[in-house]
Amino acid sequence: MVDFAVGTLSDLSRMALLAQSDGGSFWLPPPESVSSWAVDNVFYYILYLSYFFFALIFAVLVLFVVRYRRRPGVEAVKTATHSTLLEAVWSLIPLGLVIIMFYAGFVGYVELRSPPEQAYEILVTARKWSWQFTYPDGTIDNNLHVPVGEPVRLVMTSDDVIHSLSIPAFRVKMDVVPGRYTRTWFQGKELGTYDLYCTEYCGTGHSDMLASVVVHEADDFRAWLKAAGDVLGNNPPAKAGEILFRRHGCGSCHSTDGTPRVGPSLQGIVGQTHAMADGSSAAVDENYIRQSILEPGTKIRQGFRNQMPTYKGRLNDQEITAIIQYIKSLN
Ligand code: CUA
Repeated sequence: MVDFAVGTLSDLSRMALLAQSDGGSFWLPPPESVSSWAVDNVFYYILYLSYFFFALIFAVLVLFVVRYRRRPGVEAVKTATHSTLLEAVWSLIPLGLVIIMFYAGFVGYVELRSPPEQAYEILVTARKWSWQFTYPDGTIDNNLHVPVGEPVRLVMTSDDVIHSLSIPAFRVKMDVVPGRYTRTWFQGKELGTYDLYCTEYCGTGHSDMLASVVVHEADDFRAWLKAAGDVLGNNPPAKAGEILFRRHGCGSCHSTDGTPRVGPSLQGIVGQTHAMADGSSAAVDENYIRQSILEPGTKIRQGFRNQMPTYKGRLNDQEITAIIQYIKSLN
């Protein structure tokens, strides 16, 4: 019995150590940001404290149920009603434990809310249902690329409803709200690709609102930025259009394989005549696509609702032309 108890305790402490050294545990992925400790310390502290008190309270409960159960021939005795020592013990010990909890939480909060001054700043725009990351040189991508070992600050806003940006490996999670800016920051420790999620239910496409965080070597990051920056210069129009289509998240509403989603599929639409919601009909050509990108509410295809945001000011004429070439290439 004693051996069993000792074995269980050492298993628990081994789990606790594991959680703090190499990082990953059943509950959290390996910490990949320099500030991960801010979340992990307080998380594991509360977790193991909860295990301990769950076991303690349950054990005492069982003991009392067995020991003080009603039995024939045993009279209930009047017990003591007050013990100052006992009350002090069960008040002061938890007080100390929650003060430690507060302290660990507060120190972590300050760490997570205070990006270093010289951080690399990336603008984040969330919209139903994609992420858009804008780099200081104007490059836009729908995945987050960052240099390793350098603090990165995200300044975030939403075009429509409340979204929330979460990168579990970096212990980063912050709401992205329309009409205001929120910030968060992290500093990647290891090269790699990590998951980025939306963690605020934002409608039909919420669970598709995913992206990757790619942590590059500093030189690779600069090379990536250079190549990604000049899409139109580096690619033939249809290919550039495909890249822009992906970056602007068009694919979250428009499939390219014929499946209708929130919006109609774009496969094979050029050259067709479609029935519109208002009873008219329209031929799909370059001008129709251009108008649908800039003023999406003017012509609504029958069977669909006016859900698309305008891309006026977000795409220039050359980019729109490239996207039109891409859509034509789907025929
Ligand atoms: Cu955006 Cu959920």
